[in-house]
Amino acid sequence: MTVPPAIRLTGVGKLFAAESGGAVRALAEVDVDVAAGEFVALIGPSGCGKSTILRLVAGLDRPSEGAVTVHGGAPEALSRAHKLGFAFQDAALLPWLDIRENIAVPFRLAGVQKDMARVAALIDLVGLTGFEQARPNELSGGMRQRVAIARALVLEPEVLLLDEPFGALDAVTRRQMNLELQRIWSATKTTTLLVTHAVDEALFLADRVLIMSPRPGRVLEAITVPFGRPRAPALLREAAFHTLEDKLTEALIPDANDDAARIQPIA
Ligand SMILES: Nc1ncnc2c1ncn2[C@@H]1O[C@H](COP(=O)(O)OP(=O)(O)OP(=O)(O)O)[C@@H](O)[C@H]1O
Ligand SMILES: [Mg+2]
Repeated sequence: MTVPPAIRLTGVGKLFAAESGGAVRALAEVDVDVAAGEFVALIGPSGCGKSTILRLVAGLDRPSEGAVTVHGGAPEALSRAHKLGFAFQDAALLPWLDIRENIAVPFRLAGVQKDMARVAALIDLVGLTGFEQARPNELSGGMRQRVAIARALVLEPEVLLLDEPFGALDAVTRRQMNLELQRIWSATKTTTLLVTHAVDEALFLADRVLIMSPRPGRVLEAITVPFGRPRAPALLREAAFHTLEDKLTEALIPDANDDAARIQPIA
C-alpha cells in the first residue's frame, strides 16, 4: 500500500462571492502534494490565494472544485484531532496571559491536561528561556512570533501551516527567525507549508518552492531546492543561491509573464 502524501490538493478551485454580486475566482486547478516531513514554501503575488490554500488545508474553508486531503482524509479530521498547528503573520497572543500560559492555550482548547514540561521544552527550543512570565507587550515582535510558533507546536502537530509568520519583522530579525525555524523543523521534522513573500526565506527554508500566478492562483512552477542541510547563513551569499533567487523573483514579476509561455503550469 502506498502512503498518501501528508497534504494533497487535486484540481482545487475556489470561488468567493464578490460584493458586486458576481464571483471572484481565487484559485484554479491547483494541484499540490506535500510529503510527510517535507517543508514546502508557497510564494506568489498578493491576492493569488496563498492564505486561501492554507485555510483549505486547515479545514477552515472548503474548495469549490476539486479535493483537499490531509493524510488521505478530510482536513477537519486532523484539526479535530488537534494535530494541526497554524501560525499567522500577526502572532495573535492573549495579552493578559504570560508566555508560558499563551503557549499552553491549545491544551485548553483541545480539552487535554496541560503539559507544562512540554511548554518548558518549547520555550527552550524557541530560545525564550527566562521570559516564561513575561506578557506579550513586554516582548519584541520577533519574540512574539517565536511564542506563536511554540504555541503552534505545543500539541506536536503532524502538519504545521505558517502564513507569513515573519512578514512584520525587520530583515535582520527575520533572518534570525529563519535560522530558528530551520533548527526547530530539523528537530521535529513536522510537515510544513509556509507562505511567504520573501524569495530568500523560501529558498533558505524549503525543500521545494511552489510559485503561484496572480489571481486566479495556479501553481506555475515547483522548484526543488538543491541546497543541503543544515543551511548556514553563508548560503545566502553564495552565487548559486542568488541565481536561483533571481530566477524565482523573475517568475513572480507580472511583466515577466510573457515568459509564462515558458513557465508551464504543472500538471
Ligand atoms: N472570505 C473571502 N470572501 C471573499 N473573497 C475572499 C475571501 N478570502 C479571500 N478572498 C479573495 O480571494 C483572493 C485570494 O485571497 P488570499 O487571502 O488567499 O490571497 P493571498 O495570496 O494570501 O494574498 P496576500 O499575499 O496579500 O496575503 C483575493 O482576491 C481575496 O480578495
Ligand atoms: Mg495571505
